[in-house]
Amino acid sequence: MTLATLSVKQLVDSYQWRYAVKRFDPSKQIDAATWSAIEKSLVLTPSSFGLQPWKFFVISSPENKAKLSAISWNQSQPSDCSHMVVLTARKTVDEAYVDSFLAKTAMQRNVSVESLVGYRVVVLGFLKNAMGRHLAWSSNQAYIALGQLLASAAMLGVDACPMEGIAVAEYDKLLGLFGSEYTTIVGCALGYRHSDDHYASLPKVRFDACELVTHL
Ligand SMILES: Cc1cc2nc3c(=O)[nH]c(=O)nc-3n(C[C@H](O)[C@H](O)[C@H](O)COP(=O)(O)O)c2cc1C
Repeated sequence: MTLATLSVKQLVDSYQWRYAVKRFDPSKQIDAATWSAIEKSLVLTPSSFGLQPWKFFVISSPENKAKLSAISWNQSQPSDCSHMVVLTARKTVDEAYVDSFLAKTAMQRNVSVESLVGYRVVVLGFLKNAMGRHLAWSSNQAYIALGQLLASAAMLGVDACPMEGIAVAEYDKLLGLFGSEYTTIVGCALGYRHSDDHYASLPKVRFDACELVTHL
């Protein structure tokens, strides 16, 4: 596979252009092809051991988006955006889950499950060590998906707002997650900025690279 890369300028410009949208234009929707690429970026997110301990919910019906705003500190982004993504993560990662992942690996790589037994031992050893901390670990993985989602959206010229200002228990209820293996971690509203969103023109507030980056 050959890859067409962005120029250095295009990449940096995308990140300068993006900002956390406070006001979306409710009249603008993300088209199907663009949405499909964004969804692929979620599915293609890398994760530790490749375990993908997450599920992603996409909410695009006006009724459900409005319900989400009411349980997101009344922020307008969920109801006014085009698509709202809720990133959820597994509370525990058990043997059965690991085996389902290994079965998928065997199928997609055309190898036997038996050939993966060494990997299985390593993964289960890691998870045993992390007992009681599985949700923290899978939540970290979900944030990798959030980062990839934000970057992908920016490169496609789609606006976004990552959202932790949400009522997790209420989200779980609305998404039917109560009693399931998954719980809400973070949301992300995607769509197009309203021309009146003055946050778009605010200068970025970032520490200087020399305060954050050490070269050795
Ligand atoms: C994980 C996460 C959660 C956030 N939650 C919210 C939120 O609930 N509402 C909101 O308006 N902005 C939210 N933000 C946006 C941040 O405030 C914003 O990204 C930060 O101030 C930097 O500004 P910029 O993204 O415009 O460059 C969140 C950002 C992140 C990364």
